[in-house]
Amino acid sequence: MKRPRPESSDALALFGVTGDLAHRMIFPALYELAKRGALAVPIVGVAYSHWDLARLRRRVEDAVARFAGGALDRPALRRLLGLLRYVDGDYHDPDTFQALKHALAPARRPTHYLAIPPSLFATVIAGLGAAGLAGGARVVVEKPFGRDLDSARRLNEIARSTFPDDSIFRIDHYLGKEAIMNILYFRFANSFLEPVWNRDRVASVQLTLSERFGVAGRGSFYETAGCLRDVVQNHLFQIVALLAMEPPARRGFGAVHAEKVKVFQAMRPLQPGDLVRGQYEGYREEPGVAKDSDVETFCALRLHIDSWRWAGVPWYLRSGKRLASTAAEILVELKPPPQRLFADSAPAAGRPNYLRFRLSPGHAIALAARVKRVGEAFVGLQRELFLLDKQPGEEPPYARLLADALAGRGALFTRADAVEAAWAVLDPALKRHGPARPYRPGSWGPRQADELIAPHGAWHNPAPSGDGPRR
Ligand code: BG6
Repeated sequence: MKRPRPESSDALALFGVTGDLAHRMIFPALYELAKRGALAVPIVGVAYSHWDLARLRRRVEDAVARFAGGALDRPALRRLLGLLRYVDGDYHDPDTFQALKHALAPARRPTHYLAIPPSLFATVIAGLGAAGLAGGARVVVEKPFGRDLDSARRLNEIARSTFPDDSIFRIDHYLGKEAIMNILYFRFANSFLEPVWNRDRVASVQLTLSERFGVAGRGSFYETAGCLRDVVQNHLFQIVALLAMEPPARRGFGAVHAEKVKVFQAMRPLQPGDLVRGQYEGYREEPGVAKDSDVETFCALRLHIDSWRWAGVPWYLRSGKRLASTAAEILVELKPPPQRLFADSAPAAGRPNYLRFRLSPGHAIALAARVKRVGEAFVGLQRELFLLDKQPGEEPPYARLLADALAGRGALFTRADAVEAAWAVLDPALKRHGPARPYRPGSWGPRQADELIAPHGAWHNPAPSGDGPRR
């Protein structure tokens, strides 16, 4: 039986409206929706910054000018500015929620977007419940969802005590990226991949998310998070889940969610010896950062997925700020042929064959294969069969996810059990780990990261541009 379509929200309440996330991501996304004529609900900004509506409008104009890209669509911006309202108040004060209720009236199904520090989630959710603003409403919660397994469980309990499960939208903007949605599609829309996609043919998997920039003014947030909580538990783990999951049993995202959870459940809890933490030189001088901070701005980890498909295959994940380039790439290294029929066959010479997914910047998929060099000798080179997928019209992930949340479509959001299972993997390493090792800005992190991967080769460093095959 077909399930009835969820009703669309008739208002958006945006908590943390004066913050950095709203400025950089949410306002440009709302503008994008306004440009497409897909936004017609009132937007009530909430914060405790002593702003007024005029100041909020100026902030939205600034965000659109700085972060939206493309020629300015003045009518769309005007429409967006016309939808804005502003409520100023302390989240601990019930009057703030009464003022919000007043500003939202007569909405019956608002979406409440919590673009606020995780430490305030519980307060705001309780405030919404007490003010009678939760019935028929949805809540969108930013990552990191909790800061370890216990806090994530508590947060799930609090959210569920006030909102039904299918009204809780845990956002991870990586799930709204085309290159990442394509992992799911590419794996299960093709038939050639499955026979090699397992422990028999795959030697190891690497995933790098590197950034040239530092904490970029977010020092105080970063001090509460660090790389593991900021990008590994969510963005990187979501990518691993899509790469490692079993085929869903049926069409529909419920089945995809169910398979993704099983990947996290099969991951071995991370041990200190499987983790290298790093900190770029100069991090402690960033505003908002403690002079003796041990927070990691880099991490490299070795994961084991103890499933029938992946037992024995190491997964290496690496991410960091102030590294040599800004790029995200996956490399699935295949096992060498069983016999060395040619002098230069892997593993003796060169890298073995691999499949490479370029996630950003640019989308590409490459399959490395050896081909014979012209000449008498049977020796060759490794070349890439290279597919550059430049398709116009990709929606920014926040626009896609905001539209989905407003429409009540939960496919691209994370389920409570998945969030908890992912934290369960990191939990031991969050509690007990080695010190953050210093590294030079512009490098690929501390040398201990190279030592971590050494038993299975070396890191593959993604190039700054993904527009061509790798030589
Ligand atoms: C965010 C993190 O979730 O993702 C940032 O908080 C990180 O620290 C960002 O830079 C990376 O996202 P993207 O889309 O730029 O790769």
